[in-house]
Amino acid sequence: MEKKMSKQALLEFNLQKREPFLEALEQYVLSKPVPFDVPGHKMGGFDNDLEEFVGKRTYECDINGPYGMDNLVKPSGVIKEAEDLCAKAFKADGCLFSVNGTTGGILTEILGVLRAKDKIILPRNVHKSVINALILSGAVPIFVKPDIDPLTGISNGVPVEEYAKAIEQNPDAKVVFAINPTYFGLVSDLKAIAALAHKHGMIAMADEAHGTHFYFSDRLPLGALQAGFDITTASMHKTGGSLTQSSLVMYKGKRVDWDRVKAVFSMMMSTSPNSLLMASIDAARKRMFFDGDALLGSTIAKCLRARKELSQIPGLSVIDHSYIDGKGRFGIDDTKLVVDVSGLGITGFDAYHELKMRSNVQLELGEFRCCLAIFGVGTTDEQTNTLISAFKELSENHYSKRMVHRMPHFNFTYPELVVRPRVAFNAPHRVVPSKDAAGEISAESVMIYPPGIPLLIPGERITVEALKELSFYKKHGGIILSDTKVGEISIVDRTKWYRASDLDSEF
Ligand SMILES: Cc1ncc(COP(=O)(O)O)c(C=O)c1O
Repeated sequence: MEKKMSKQALLEFNLQKREPFLEALEQYVLSKPVPFDVPGHKMGGFDNDLEEFVGKRTYECDINGPYGMDNLVKPSGVIKEAEDLCAKAFKADGCLFSVNGTTGGILTEILGVLRAKDKIILPRNVHKSVINALILSGAVPIFVKPDIDPLTGISNGVPVEEYAKAIEQNPDAKVVFAINPTYFGLVSDLKAIAALAHKHGMIAMADEAHGTHFYFSDRLPLGALQAGFDITTASMHKTGGSLTQSSLVMYKGKRVDWDRVKAVFSMMMSTSPNSLLMASIDAARKRMFFDGDALLGSTIAKCLRARKELSQIPGLSVIDHSYIDGKGRFGIDDTKLVVDVSGLGITGFDAYHELKMRSNVQLELGEFRCCLAIFGVGTTDEQTNTLISAFKELSENHYSKRMVHRMPHFNFTYPELVVRPRVAFNAPHRVVPSKDAAGEISAESVMIYPPGIPLLIPGERITVEALKELSFYKKHGGIILSDTKVGEISIVDRTKWYRASDLDSEF
């Protein structure tokens, strides 16, 4: 491969062997500086139980921007070099290292591109961080409906026609936003969506919390930037092998004002970024650049083997390529294993708990009918065998005595948005029991975690349907995240709102 390259390409290829931040960190630690700066543990001088467990080297590497280690929010040295190499590895024009996960990346891209009252066209099954970015930015969401599987209740990608309709009705929208892939591994037709957005002068923006690995294998769906998107944020930590909380913000082309994005990024990040997180991005980027294709090929093979074996176990079925419809299910991530356990007469929540308790197998999440296992570049054959055996045991325990569990009938219509999320969030509030909340305007986000997709967002009219769904998840052990206690909802207090008509004019 190296022989066929031009001189320039060979130079860039060889540069990927560098790990500028990690190399500088190693040098700094090995030089044994006398630390009269923060942090106060002084490179491991403060004996404590965590240090004993993880080792002194971890503490030695935990430094806070000392001499020669650059500055995350105004980088000009080793962080800049590491970010530039990362951009090249993803074929992006620029990259920022987020130490606040893709949550920080999403806040950065949305606030970096949109101003108050700008419109953004986006799927309703977005992560909570997107709703938070709408509250902070004051942007106006125009929701498009994702494909929802009526059997499992899982929300997938969005058919291009849904975006086209929203664009036609909102030609003044500034951004078209897509999730690539969804939590369950389904993707939309990003190439068509980017082309559509650009044809109408809009910016194409993505959430790739679960899509980092797409950039390193031809056997996976396209990464958003590869499909023509202008800006994205990707959880390097979820599927790219770096430490938890380390993510990337990247752009390509000329449509995004990158200087403004960088200015917002500097507001979203700590001035004390964790050096281990940044070093881990450097190391993971190098590994993925050189070995990602082979590692992912092997990861995919393990996942496909598990899909095949599980589909033969009584009472189990899996989501595979037969699920694809070219629309909201345009493609599938073959490192994700979605297992429908309803044929065992148990719920996905039950399977999630039982697999952990009986077999010490930790899944990503359980849903009513399904559960989700995520394979990664670190997954081994042995772990795959354990997963398959654990599901076999689950089937043996339940198949013969199975009962029929029916998915409750939800309408899957999202509530109507009455005011902008920021307006509702900042309005006078009142907390009421959930049972009395139908018809009111929600002042908070209410979501089930994982996956953290809100059932209600600030500004939406609370429906009986949403409340039914909420109590259903509560009953089945879903973790409810909201600002109030479980069983209560914060609503806009219309009695304290200046005049009812202000609600409309504020939109
Ligand atoms: C679709 C989606 N977007 C964004 C995020 C936030 O990413 P992070 O956990 O890296 O902050 C998540 C996290 O689970 C997610 O699933």
